[in-house]
Amino acid sequence: MKEFFAFPTAASTMAPRVDAIFWTLCVLTLFVVLGLGTVTVYFLVRYRERHDRARRQAYSNRVVEAIWIGTPLLVFVALFAWGAREYVPENDPPPDAMAVFGIAKQWMWKFEHADGRREMNALHVPVGRPVRVTLVSQDVIHSFFVPAFRLKQDVLPGRYTTTWFQASRPGTYRLFCAEYCGTDHSAMLGTVVAMAPEAFARWQSETLGQSSLAYEGRKRFQVLGCTACHGEGASSGAPSLEGLYGRPVDLEDGSRVTADDNYLRTAILEPGAQVVLHYRNVMPSYRGLVDEVALSELVAYVKSLATKEEDLP
Ligand code: CUA
Repeated sequence: MKEFFAFPTAASTMAPRVDAIFWTLCVLTLFVVLGLGTVTVYFLVRYRERHDRARRQAYSNRVVEAIWIGTPLLVFVALFAWGAREYVPENDPPPDAMAVFGIAKQWMWKFEHADGRREMNALHVPVGRPVRVTLVSQDVIHSFFVPAFRLKQDVLPGRYTTTWFQASRPGTYRLFCAEYCGTDHSAMLGTVVAMAPEAFARWQSETLGQSSLAYEGRKRFQVLGCTACHGEGASSGAPSLEGLYGRPVDLEDGSRVTADDNYLRTAILEPGAQVVLHYRNVMPSYRGLVDEVALSELVAYVKSLATKEEDLP
C-alpha cells in the first residue's frame, strides 16, 4: 500500500498517521460514491414513470430522516476529531526538539543550526529525534514542503512560523517550495538528509560550526550598540533581557504577551508596537539595519539569556 500510486516513502513519525487519515477518507468516499450510484440507478429503474400506475406522493418518514442525517453527522464529527487529534500535536513541537532556523528567499533555502553550522538547499537531521524548524522568508511567501514527512508549512516574510518533525528512516528526501513565488519557483528545491544518530554525529564533527547562533547574536548585540541600554548596569533604563524568553510580558496597553520568537522580532523591528509596562517608547527601530540572518542570531542570543550566559558554547 505504501508505494501505491508512487506514494512517497513514509519517513517521519507523522507520515503513517497522515496516510491513515488519507486512505480512510479515500475508502469512505469510494463507498459513498458507489452506494449513492447504486441506489440512484436502482431508484431510476424501480420508480420510473409507468402509465399503468397512479402517481403517489411520498411523505416524510422521521426514522429514515434521522438515520440519513445522523449517520453522516457522526461520521464527519468522528473524522474531525481524528484530524484534530493529529493536527494539534503537529503544531506543538516537543520542548526537547533540536532547533533549526530556515530562511527562504527567491529561490533557495538557507538553514542554520543552533551550533552555527549553515547549509544551503540541504538540511541534515538525525533520525529519531524531534526537529523544530523556525521559518521566515526574506522576500515573498514560500512554503516548506517535505512529502516524505507529510509536512507542509507556509514561510512568510516578516513573521516566524514553526513546524516540527521526527524523521523515522534514514535517507535523502526532496524538499519543495509549495507556494508559487516567481520565475524559478519550480527550481527552488532542496534535500532533507535524515541520518542515523552516529552518522549525524560524524557529519556534525566534520562540518563543525566555528561558533553558535547565540554567539553570533551576542557579537551583533554589541556591534549594534544594544548594550548601551540593555547591557548590565546601563544608565538608560531598558527592560532587562535576562531570563526574558518564554516569560509573560505585561504591556503598556494592559495586555500580556509571551516573549517568543515573534515577540522578539517585533521588539527589534517595531519597538513601538508592543511597549513594556512602565517603560517609555524610546528604542529606535532596527528595520533595514538587520537582515533575517542577523535577526535569527539576535533572537537566539536573547533566547540563550533565558538560561545562563556561561552555558553558551
Ligand atoms: Cu519559493 Cu515557490
